[in-house]
Amino acid sequence: MKTIFSGIQPSGILTLGNYLGAMKHFVPLQDEFNCFYCIVDQHAITVPQEPAVLKENIRRLAALYLAVGLDPEKVTLFIQSEVPAHAKLGWIMLCTSYVGELERMTQFKDKSSGRGESVPGGLLAYPPLMAADILLYNTDFVPVGEDQKQHLELTRDLATRFNHRYGEIFTIPDVRVAEVGARIMSLQDGTKKMSKSDPNQGGFISMLDDPDTIVKKVKRAQTDSDNAIRFDKENKPAISNLLTIYSLCSGKTIAELEAMYEGKGYGAFKSDLAEVVVDTLKPIQDRFHELFSSPELDEILSAGAEKANKVAGEMLHKVETAMGMARL
Ligand code: TYM
Repeated sequence: MKTIFSGIQPSGILTLGNYLGAMKHFVPLQDEFNCFYCIVDQHAITVPQEPAVLKENIRRLAALYLAVGLDPEKVTLFIQSEVPAHAKLGWIMLCTSYVGELERMTQFKDKSSGRGESVPGGLLAYPPLMAADILLYNTDFVPVGEDQKQHLELTRDLATRFNHRYGEIFTIPDVRVAEVGARIMSLQDGTKKMSKSDPNQGGFISMLDDPDTIVKKVKRAQTDSDNAIRFDKENKPAISNLLTIYSLCSGKTIAELEAMYEGKGYGAFKSDLAEVVVDTLKPIQDRFHELFSSPELDEILSAGAEKANKVAGEMLHKVETAMGMARL
């Protein structure tokens, strides 16, 4: 059976972008693949986090993973910091990287810009840690949104470089990016990615937003100058983004939606869209609230850490042996 690995940062409440671009796709994969899904808290601390908030966000993310439909009997769900092999292989992958290639990462450039001398070192070391996450599990496929493609290319380069030096240790993973929804854009700027760290709350829908908030955010969403509901990414990025969200939440194709709203204005379209988003998130939210404070959640995470430690520990040992670091 082929293996899947993916991770999400507990750095805020997940957005509809995280859901439509990544999480939603994790669910059907659990029936076909050996899946490892990770709460990457060590990635989250590459920028400062408030301890109490981080703790809550880790638990929220764990509950959300399950609430969207992942079955702990089928997948391994775990917290990165509970599996020490990640940090250890992360260091080895950092030593396999060149500063030049790390500085070229778009996310590094975005996140470090404007910080002057105070760019956290962890931001530069972030992609090698991500490579370690993936490579520890003999991963075949990594389902992610489009923004992670460059990190995946680097992972493949580092794995190939390592194998070249030390023998065929790592499986070279392939990226899996959804055809639709791999880049959900901000509701306030159709040219900018929807992000949980956007200071403008109106730019994103959180997976835990209540129905009133969702309705307000959709109503205030940016539209384009003319009144036509038509998919045209180049010239009408805002409405194209809303159509993508509508399509993914309703299961209707973009062409069906264009036909449904031909000659109708943005008002009707937006109020239907808000309803569809609320209907998508409501069952997830209900399940989330049941899980969040349940002892079952801790049991699932403990079992996940145990399983992940076993698999990752074996790979780390293989790597250290190949490098001459394992005594036994
Ligand atoms: P993160 O936490 O930023 O995002 C989690 C997942 O959501 C996707 N995503 C989006 N998809 C579509 N539209 C958007 N607006 C949008 N925003 C986010 C991301 O592409 C991602 O799939 N570095 C990763 C976490 C990570 C990881 C890994 C992923 C760490 N180790 C190993 C895969 C494998 C990140 O910051 O994702």
